[in-house]
Amino acid sequence: MDKKMLRKCLVIFSMMAMIRTSTAAYAGSSWRQASATFYGDETASATMGGACGYGNLWNSGYGAATVALSTTLFNDGYSCGQCFQIKCVSSPNCYYGGPATVVTATNICPPNWGQDSNNGGWCNPPRVHFDLAKPAFMKIANWKAGIIPVSYRRVACKRTGGIRFKFEGNGYWLLVYVMNVGGAGDIKTMAVKGSRTNWINMSHNWGASYQAFSSLYGQSLSFRLTSYSTRATIYAWNAAPASWSAGKTYQSKANFS
Ligand SMILES: *[C@@H]1O[C@H](CO)[C@@H](O)[C@H](O)[C@H]1NC(C)=O
Repeated sequence: MDKKMLRKCLVIFSMMAMIRTSTAAYAGSSWRQASATFYGDETASATMGGACGYGNLWNSGYGAATVALSTTLFNDGYSCGQCFQIKCVSSPNCYYGGPATVVTATNICPPNWGQDSNNGGWCNPPRVHFDLAKPAFMKIANWKAGIIPVSYRRVACKRTGGIRFKFEGNGYWLLVYVMNVGGAGDIKTMAVKGSRTNWINMSHNWGASYQAFSSLYGQSLSFRLTSYSTRATIYAWNAAPASWSAGKTYQSKANFS
């Protein structure tokens, strides 16, 4: 087998392993090994506007308890909204005894092909790596460490209130960012129903956004969502009023628990 082929196999194999861990880890809560760095500064301003599309994380409720996932963990955006408990292990820079930090995935840490995956290219596939918002990193280790070994596990996301839908698009194209998702925190499929339509399946756009190419202006909108990790389905009835418009965010009463 040549090197290129081997690399391809490795990527596919790690993707398969990752799909298995994402469901198994959520259900079984076993601790796994990874590494972690941080990005941005104490204000966490660099973490705003990440690849999940949540925009300003203070407004969307995630604050600075957030993380950018390496490609392997990011799973093409389907891991957006998942919650991870992370603790520092086996480093003199660890703060032991403190609470393990719980963070929500809001961004991707892209590969850096210019650097070796064991020397700077921490987010290159197939590495499992967490690039934490600096305030989250500072809860578990001295930031001067730069990179630390960690143990992590998926945990249920504790959210206040219902799922939020941030609307973009226009009269013929509805693009919705799904935020504040409880339970597993992630979304696999989504459908929209206007007050004068049947259910219309939406397609995954990027990050935590889903789209429908339909004319839905002037209709109140309901959503049907299926969790990526648990496959549970919930309905957010009349999540947006008939007067909905792009640029606004609507909060439903429904959430995963
Ligand atoms: C719509 O989505 C549902 C649930 O994911 C699926 O079972 C169904 O086959 C889809 N329908 C179409 C027309 O794609």
